[in-house]
Amino acid sequence: MSTATEARSNPLAQIDWDYIEFYVGNAKQAAHYYMSAFGFDQIAYAGPETGVRDRVSYLLAQNKLRFVLTASLVPDDDVARHVALHGDGVKDIAILVEDADTAFEMAVRGGARVLQRPTAFEDDNGRLIRATIATYGDTVHSFIQRDGYAGIFAPGFVEARKSVPTAKKPGLSFIDHCVGNVGWGEMDVWGDFYGRVFGFSQLVSFDDKDISTEYTALRSKVMTDPRHLVKFPINEPAQGKKKSQIEEYLDFYRGAGVQHMAIRTDDIAATVRALKHNGVEFLDTPDSYYDALEERIGKIDEAMETLRELRILVDRDDMGYMLQIFTKPLQDRPTLFFEIIQRKGSLSFGKGNFKALFVSIEREQEKRGTL
Ligand code: FE2
Repeated sequence: MSTATEARSNPLAQIDWDYIEFYVGNAKQAAHYYMSAFGFDQIAYAGPETGVRDRVSYLLAQNKLRFVLTASLVPDDDVARHVALHGDGVKDIAILVEDADTAFEMAVRGGARVLQRPTAFEDDNGRLIRATIATYGDTVHSFIQRDGYAGIFAPGFVEARKSVPTAKKPGLSFIDHCVGNVGWGEMDVWGDFYGRVFGFSQLVSFDDKDISTEYTALRSKVMTDPRHLVKFPINEPAQGKKKSQIEEYLDFYRGAGVQHMAIRTDDIAATVRALKHNGVEFLDTPDSYYDALEERIGKIDEAMETLRELRILVDRDDMGYMLQIFTKPLQDRPTLFFEIIQRKGSLSFGKGNFKALFVSIEREQEKRGTL
């Protein structure tokens, strides 16, 4: 089947990330943080000055990454209630589609809960169509059909370019995967959801024997589109001697939500150096991890000394290897964080690192008294 025919018969087979929208308590300050710490540029703005009465949104971009930071100007709309309940977090994982109507119809036929039927937004620059369905917790997916829309981002936004000149550019390029934490026993429910609603297939799964330490455990499965561009790992807590990190997330976020986004780079050492320079804090890795590393993964291009210095993790599968590191939480609650990832052939999600990583997360949990 040709790519064009495939796109018509299954519009959800030809998708990509469009943007991630965060609901936050103070979008102006959050925008400054993502600009100064993560090197984003502000591109566009929507708010009272542009005819939007009840909220403000800042569009930040870096290479193919687009974040929208939205805050409410009133005490009790959906944005304000979301922030009151969950704290700052991801609201919308927006997906770029060629045909929003067909994608929406397919999703609804698969059992998706409708939040907004396909709706056209227009201005002098053209037309953009958006439809929105619900996923886990209060998180949603919008289908975005851009139809050659020539404006800066979407109707309602005006160009508002700004950057923080002192921020080092870390070279973050695009989203590799976006992980959801769901409740006890709900991993299969949401894995099936992405199968039915998006036509995704399962890439890989991990049980609690793979992902556990002496104390905390979780289970995970990764759902993906046919082109492996949009990958959604789903985590659920599993029983351990002490509280699972997924359970801690669910307690603080008050339910299911996005746990982390993994962001790709072509040079993880340079990226981590730039982010550290900008003040980004990363999880530490026990020094002993590096003593056994070469034995576990063999020879790689990067110097062991650099990896040890920057606390970068490495994992290998039969396709190659990958390098990764995790930030500390990005807001007051220990909920959302970023992963920085560089792939050298490997499709892995870092299974071999789970143990080393969780020992480190537990150390942070211990400090918060939630282990
Ligand atoms: Fe990840």
